[in-house]
Amino acid sequence: MNFPEKLIRKIEFRKTEKSIRSLGQINNLVDFSSNDYLGFAKSNELHFQTNELLIRIKGDHNGATGSRLLSGNHVLYNIVEEELTSIHSSEAALIFNSGYNANLGLFSSVPQRGDIILYDEFIHASIRDGMQLSNAKSYKFDHNNIADLEEKLKTFSKKENTVDREIYVVTESVFSMDGDSPELEVMCKICEKYGAYLIVDEAHALGVFGKKGLGATQESELNEKIFARILTFGKGLGCHGAVVLGSKELKQFLVNYSRSFIYTTGLAPHTLATIKTAYELLQSQQGRDSKALLEKNILHFKKTAAELKLNFIESSSAIHCCIISGNQKTKEIAKKLLASGFDVKPILSPTVAKGKERLRFCLHSYNTFNQITEVLEKLATFAV
Ligand SMILES: Cc1ncc(COP(=O)(O)O)c(C=O)c1O
Repeated sequence: MNFPEKLIRKIEFRKTEKSIRSLGQINNLVDFSSNDYLGFAKSNELHFQTNELLIRIKGDHNGATGSRLLSGNHVLYNIVEEELTSIHSSEAALIFNSGYNANLGLFSSVPQRGDIILYDEFIHASIRDGMQLSNAKSYKFDHNNIADLEEKLKTFSKKENTVDREIYVVTESVFSMDGDSPELEVMCKICEKYGAYLIVDEAHALGVFGKKGLGATQESELNEKIFARILTFGKGLGCHGAVVLGSKELKQFLVNYSRSFIYTTGLAPHTLATIKTAYELLQSQQGRDSKALLEKNILHFKKTAAELKLNFIESSSAIHCCIISGNQKTKEIAKKLLASGFDVKPILSPTVAKGKERLRFCLHSYNTFNQITEVLEKLATFAV
């Protein structure tokens, strides 16, 4: 079968840039790479309780059978969305098939022609793709830079013909490739001042931030001021899917206009039952213990990295990134760590900017202090 020459050239380009992607195997090395921050993906308890729930509610369908707007709106959807509305102190909740789908659907449908989206320059690819499908114009502001954001808000709110113009500002409460966080309270105030709508992607904060692990905006009560929050279940909750939290009007709008919500088969009942059970686990003593272990590990990691004078981006989340610079060098160090028994992923350009290639450590409740000390000591010897 022929394959277009121009596509072959693009693959060759990736190879020469040392950034060719390929699918690996799951390994049994020490996990510093998965997003399973609390170990829920491997939890037998979650597995068995989910099955029990499905038996109890006679949720015997294997698949959703259709879009949620047709035959796929399983009774569990309403139950879980009601629970999420209450747990996250929101007015409404709408479950999407994944975080990618949620961001694609939200950003492609909500901002209208003539509207403006201001986004942090390090925003996730799913938000970028949503913005590309939108009729609104989007402009980046410097990463976590409030002054730059305010400058842009000032500029766009002063422009002519602004009567009907809405401005949306989007950030992440934990940046996926940096692990750092914005000053959300200040951002909220600035958005209020300029009448802009703030949207926060909490993908990497769920299970990690907030007293109950419900995200960075939850306990600070910023949630009331935020237009939309996106939480994903494939990371800290160890399952799959995502939810957009916001007003009842937002939910109704998305059900009517969000194409990644409308034109796709709903989640399988098993997935919905896992989400419900994972929230119960998060709020149980076991969930609280896992979160406390993760917090201890984060502190130990930070302390050890500082003692070894390693070049990490400041972070209090479960993601910690050491800038290496250069695809080849970053890959080589990751390979050495792998050979030493540690699964640490290299993050290469073009995923991050050239020169900012890095090793990304994801921390978990089930990592031990010894593993953390050892991997960082190895890194200190390999990264010189
Ligand atoms: C910030 C952020 N938003 C959204 C997503 C997409 O979520 P999902 O994996 O559920 O599609 C990710 C996943 O990498 C992410 O890091």
